[in-house]
Formats: sequence, structure tokens, C-alpha cells
Amino acid sequence: TDRYAIVGNPVGFSKSPLIHTEFARQSGQDIEYTRLEAPLGRFKETVDAFRAAGARGVNITAPFKLDAFAYATEVSEAARLAGAANALAFDGERVRAENFDGIGLVNDIQRNLGFSLQGKRVLMLGAGGAARGALLPFLAQQPAAFVLANRTAAKAQALAQQCGDAGAIRGCGLHDLEGLSFDIVLNATSASLTGELPAVPASVFSQAQLAYELAYAKGLTPFLRLAQGAGVQRVADGVGMLVEQAAEAFQWWRGVRPDTAALIRQLTVPLA
Ligand code: ATR
Repeated sequence: TDRYAIVGNPVGFSKSPLIHTEFARQSGQDIEYTRLEAPLGRFKETVDAFRAAGARGVNITAPFKLDAFAYATEVSEAARLAGAANALAFDGERVRAENFDGIGLVNDIQRNLGFSLQGKRVLMLGAGGAARGALLPFLAQQPAAFVLANRTAAKAQALAQQCGDAGAIRGCGLHDLEGLSFDIVLNATSASLTGELPAVPASVFSQAQLAYELAYAKGLTPFLRLAQGAGVQRVADGVGMLVEQAAEAFQWWRGVRPDTAALIRQLTVPLA
């Protein structure tokens, strides 16, 4: 039995054990996947001990994604731009870091929700960890324009610059969005966690087909409500992203592509 865990603090809410255990059942893989709560400031010691006990990998949730990145000996491009890792693989002394949040989000939008990103005008709100992790996989889909807008404009501008020539990305402040419209609008801020609304003009939704909240199981957030009120037909939260990033990690560790559809249905919390 190969051992894996989700490391976080708190970690009791995490759906990752359920998801990976179901993936393993589906594909006949002999793994054990548990929750591992690391004390604050003790990520390294906690993971060292888990590795010493024979662990093959971990997923990482708040507040340890930056610690996980620092712990790695080899990092992927997506993890490097994000400065954060959501999956580690252990192989002797080697620790490889990945960040599958972005590809999970892109796969959910394209494969599950059926919206192609190529040639689209995309707006992402936020420039924190959630946004950083998602940028490169989005740009790889060649949207016509990708605008990263943040309450603190300078953070979005700096992040856009770090993407270099990876694609047509521009960073700006929320107030700079007045009068602009987009095909797909994503909320990667943490505002919804406290029931707040990023100060975004409703005009950004006037031609949008999809509004996507990266947070999961928060119901119809102020952001999604604003989108609906502005006439956006399709609103979604991050349940599909959650399951798809897990599928990427499972494939990376085990070499098998699990099926995600049934789990997404099972974990979906109605948006009413
Ligand atoms: P996460 O890892 O969830 O992205 P984070 O790194 O703390 O968390 O980043 C939080 C993001 O949400 C930031 O982009 C933050 O904007 P600032 O950079 O200006 O702080 C954004 N955010 C949080 N609360 C917000 C609010 N009420 N309105 C708009 N943006 C908000």
C-alpha cells in the first residue's frame, strides 16, 4: 500500500481523501490517502516524518502551499510562477513539486462546462495565490485577451509582467475595468470566503457567457449573484476544479487517468 495525504491546517474539511480513495477504487490502485494536520510553522517536520514512514506524495492546502514549494528539490513551471505547490512526489531524496490548480480549472471549464478558452476575452479577479497558480495553463489556451484585475493594481501588474511572453496578459486595478466586457469572468479573490464582493463594475458581465467562482461550496456568492443579475447564463463554483486538480495529481503519481464526472456530481452543492 502506497501512502499519500493532504497536508493543511485545518484539514478536517478536505474532500481530497474521499476523492483519491474513489480514484484508487476505480482504477484498482493500492493506495491509502489520509488527512495530515501540520502544526503552524511545522510543515517541514511533519512531512519529513511522513516521508520517513514511507509516504509517496502529498497534496497541500492552506496555509502550506508556499512551504511545500520551498521544501521541493525540483519544481515545475506552473509551480515556479505560482511560487506555490499543491502536490509533491517523493522519490528517495528527490522531492518534485507541481501546481495543478490552474490545469484543473482549465480542464473543468473546457471539458466539463464546455467553454473553449481559445480566442476568448477572459477576466480574472485577484492576484493572490489562487490567481497565480492558474495563469500559465490559461495563457497556454491562447485566449484573445487575458486581463488580471486586482484591488491592489500593482500586484496584478507585477504578476502579468512575470508571465513575460507566455501570452496576451495585462494587469490592472478593478476600477480600470469600467466599460470593458469579457466572454468569461473568474473570481480568484478570497472575497467570497467572507461574503464580500470585489468592487467590479457590472459591465464586465454584459457579454459574458460564464462566471466562475474558484471557491467551492460557498453557494451563490455575491460575485455569482452580480453575474446572474447582469444576465450571465452559466455560473459555476470550484467543485469541478477541485476534482480535476486531484485527477491531475493522481495521474502524475500513479500513471492512470481517473474518471471525474461521477465525483463532481456527488460533491456538487447546489448554488441556490
Ligand atoms: P488566495 O491564496 O486565496 O488567493 P491571498 O493570496 O491572500 O489568498 O489573496 C487574496 C486575493 O483576494 C488578493 O488578490 C486580494 O486583493 P489585494 O491584493 O488587493 O489584497 C483579494 N481580495 C480579498 N478580499 C477582497 C475584497 N473584499 N475585494 C477585492 N479583492 C479582495
